[in-house]
Amino acid sequence: MGYLKSVKNSTSTFSKTQTDLFAVGVFEDLKLSVIGKEADKYLDGQISAAIKNGDIKGKSSETSLLYGKKKKILVIGLGDKKKFDEKAIRLVGGTVLKTAISKKLKTVGMELFGGEKAASFSQALAEGIVLGSYQFITYKTQDKELFEVGSALVLNADTKAIQKGSIIASSVCFARDVQNHPGNVTTPTKLAKLAKEIASEGGMKLTVFDREKFTKMGMGAFAGVALGTGEPPKFILLEYKGGKSNEKPIALVGKGLTFDSGGISIKPSAGMDEMKFDMCGGGLVLGVMKAVAQLKPKVNIVAAVPSTENLCGEKAYKPGDILTAYNGKTIEVLNTDAEGRLILADALAYVSKHHKPQYMLDFATLTGAVVIALGHITTGIMGTDEKLIERVKNSSKNTGEKVWEFPLWDEYCEQIKSEIADIKNVGAAREAGSIAAGAFLKEFVGEGIPWVHFDIAGTAYKNKESSLTYKKGASGVMIRLVLDLIQG
Ligand code: BES
Ligand code: MN
Ligand code: ZN
Repeated sequence: MGYLKSVKNSTSTFSKTQTDLFAVGVFEDLKLSVIGKEADKYLDGQISAAIKNGDIKGKSSETSLLYGKKKKILVIGLGDKKKFDEKAIRLVGGTVLKTAISKKLKTVGMELFGGEKAASFSQALAEGIVLGSYQFITYKTQDKELFEVGSALVLNADTKAIQKGSIIASSVCFARDVQNHPGNVTTPTKLAKLAKEIASEGGMKLTVFDREKFTKMGMGAFAGVALGTGEPPKFILLEYKGGKSNEKPIALVGKGLTFDSGGISIKPSAGMDEMKFDMCGGGLVLGVMKAVAQLKPKVNIVAAVPSTENLCGEKAYKPGDILTAYNGKTIEVLNTDAEGRLILADALAYVSKHHKPQYMLDFATLTGAVVIALGHITTGIMGTDEKLIERVKNSSKNTGEKVWEFPLWDEYCEQIKSEIADIKNVGAAREAGSIAAGAFLKEFVGEGIPWVHFDIAGTAYKNKESSLTYKKGASGVMIRLVLDLIQG
């Protein structure tokens, strides 16, 4: 388990709701809602007494747990009523679940916290509830303190919106699991198996190319990276058709590097374990497709995840090697640790050629440089099409998942030219490393296809803990943004 798969919308009343925990909200105006008043009555006036006393001020993120005869009542401060939006109610949902987990309360109910008017509030609340329920506890076999919430309900919410929010957030949690499992569990073979399950759930077509096949097909860059590992690499392709048959698909490409040692240009050992997260882009794309399988949007989508380890086996590719990519371009390898761009190159070129997408997005834990630039707060983006970038920024605002655009100007694109091959896999030393990686990828995007690259190296894991995230594990970032974008 590890997270709630769904949230229930209930038309029952406060007094008939028999949950271990029930949450109500108070804005700074300190007026109780209808359900708030019922809860106050149930507690013999404890809430109004606490308000009178100044213990409850209605400030956001303020919580008070009060004990009724059967139900415990959580009173949550909601802040300024005028500023209360989807982002705020999402956080509230997370807070309720985190409280239930820490107090070991199995069943949870809550009001809609002043979000009665818009369906978007119901959706955001459900998202917060499911995201807040997430824990990665699969490998804790002895910990007796572990506790999971069994069910959650909201009174008088919008049923469809609650369902949609549950699907989106449980797909984020699904992706977090895929991303959090270590390299010996989330292998390329495992990713292909998960893609198969998603394909049968959503009526999608699955194609998987193994080493022999994609090498023969001419994916020389991907094959080059995969040479150093005995773990079978996979090129995974999912096709979903929810739109008209002649409509061009949206393409999603994710870096599925299940462990990045750096290869012959080996990384320092401190922190190398974190490179099990180098498949977060691939996990993200599978998370989106998991949601697509259930939401069934009226669009066509093609998703590609090139997946391998980057190790230093006896056949490993070496600095100086020259690889020929799927689109025929030759690449001088100057650092085997710049492997993500190599495996993505063939995926971008393959999808461009065979699927002629209306636009293409790729997601990758691609550069340490993006962490230097934007920390663990914001995803770096860059691309070839202003309109598409605008749409991405708009979805970023809608979902609260932060992005910041880097310039992909010609001067930067010059920096990846090679002396002896068409391009090299590194830019100028210690300069604009994230843009150099973007400039490299651009060489493999088919002519005229609008494209945006998302560098999630800073945001895919190691985020600050909040009511919606769990410790230092994978965040499942950008899934909500992409789902907003493809449906908008
Ligand atoms: N997977 C790494 C990027 C990365 C770094 C992800 C830190 C998450 C946290 C990528 O394959 C890599 O090693 N990039 C190199 C590129 C360099 C050799 C040009 C980097 O950023 O150091
Ligand atoms: Mn690397
Ligand atoms: Zn990598």
